[in-house]
Amino acid sequence: MAQPSEPHGLEADAFLEEVHSFEFWFQAVEGYLSGSHYGHRPALPEAPLSERERDALVTTLCNYCIGERAALEGASGMIRFAPNRRQQVFLATQAVDEARHLEVLHHRLIDLGVGDPESEIRLRASRSLQAFRRRLLTLVDGKDWEAALFAQNVILECMEFTAFQAHARRADPVTREVLEGIIKDERRHMGFGENDLGRRLAAAPHVRARLSEIRRELDALVLDTFEESLDALGTPRSERPDLGRAYLAAVERLGFAT
Ligand SMILES: [Fe+2]
Ligand SMILES: [Fe+2]
Repeated sequence: MAQPSEPHGLEADAFLEEVHSFEFWFQAVEGYLSGSHYGHRPALPEAPLSERERDALVTTLCNYCIGERAALEGASGMIRFAPNRRQQVFLATQAVDEARHLEVLHHRLIDLGVGDPESEIRLRASRSLQAFRRRLLTLVDGKDWEAALFAQNVILECMEFTAFQAHARRADPVTREVLEGIIKDERRHMGFGENDLGRRLAAAPHVRARLSEIRRELDALVLDTFEESLDALGTPRSERPDLGRAYLAAVERLGFAT
């Protein structure tokens, strides 16, 4: 099985050239996508779900589709104003990843018996997540590189990473495998945001104040999104995993504590 080439020890510039390339991307995804069918091994058996469990899973997947579509539109829109070729190439690989995520989640909804996923997504959409998507796309439309990269590759990716990891631990086997593949991609996207913004903040520390402001606004929408989805799942407060705290810790680990 192919493994990504080992980038350590290369000059910093050569390292970035490599990890932002399609070459690196292809080697990374080949290992876990080759032989899979819509994100999971084709022979993996379906676990029986009660009607209540199925309904809760459909709501959750519908909301994941909104997040993935926002990331697809965000990443592809940012290619137009990315500062250089290397960032453009990385965003092209990210757009491919996000389109795949949207596709496999959509397909999972069909597997679960949803006849018209698009109208189901509209019906079950979390209001705070839709507000997040609109805000992200406004930053992208404004061609504001730091703000759009922060909203997408730090905030949105951290939200998805936290939610998918918590969900994968208790999901049915097929959903778990689909989510585990997505999580591997989201790690790369977070790494890109952390690396690019880390260098920008070191060169221009005043950028931090602007990002802190965006963070304050978007953190509230992320925390509301978690609450809304746990409400939809009927999770009692005492049993709710502390997704909000895990999310805030993930953003801070990336060096964006405010
Ligand atoms: Fe994604
Ligand atoms: Fe992503």
